[in-house]
Amino acid sequence: TTTAPLAKPLLDWYDRHHRDLPWRVSPPMAKRGIKADPYHVWLSEVMLQQTTVPAVKAYFLKFLARWPTVGDLAAAPSEDVMAAWAGLGYYARARNLKKCAEAVANDHSGVFPDTEDGLRALPGIGDYTAAAVAAIAFNRQAAVMDGNIERVISRLYAISTPLPAAKPLMKQKVALLTPSDRPGDFAQAMMDLGATICTPKRPACALCPFNGSCEALALHDPEHFPVKAAK
Ligand code: ADE
Repeated sequence: TTTAPLAKPLLDWYDRHHRDLPWRVSPPMAKRGIKADPYHVWLSEVMLQQTTVPAVKAYFLKFLARWPTVGDLAAAPSEDVMAAWAGLGYYARARNLKKCAEAVANDHSGVFPDTEDGLRALPGIGDYTAAAVAAIAFNRQAAVMDGNIERVISRLYAISTPLPAAKPLMKQKVALLTPSDRPGDFAQAMMDLGATICTPKRPACALCPFNGSCEALALHDPEHFPVKAAK
């Protein structure tokens, strides 16, 4: 196994400062080969798409208590799932959640596909969710991009191309950084770094594991990145 040079300090930081979240298997367990449940990872990633981490926690636990397996969710009446979703918003996500659970239960014997392409072929799973589940649940070297990761990458490389045009370049940079060992921890470490250190305003660069290599910090202007297209 190889670890891309910049991934190492980030993973060391994550081992010390990762957030304890109910859908995660903590790094010490993960290192012993304990895997996150694909159903848990998928459910949390769908919930997290337009909702904050603190708001998602209670919903995630409620769904798991009521529907412990993807088969249970597939068999549930749609009205029950929609009612349980109430408050999370973006109801299309709940309908897609149900459709995807049915596809896994009916077409895949209740077992999630274990590749990025296999996951993307499921209804309601897009590029983000496919990459996140492949990396976090199946340890696949998938390049995961979200808003937090875009901010970290845009600063690390002082990317001057504005969003959204810069997205393909950012994805390429993340793919190059993602290590073959612990790709799921890498993705979640980037998310935690973006949420807690590499924040939009007043980032805590003194605490950042990338502060020796960050080009935006070297330019003394991390807040300038990511550059947004003029409206
Ligand atoms: N946002 C989306 N997915 C996340 C995850 N797995 N951990 C923390 N924040 C997230």
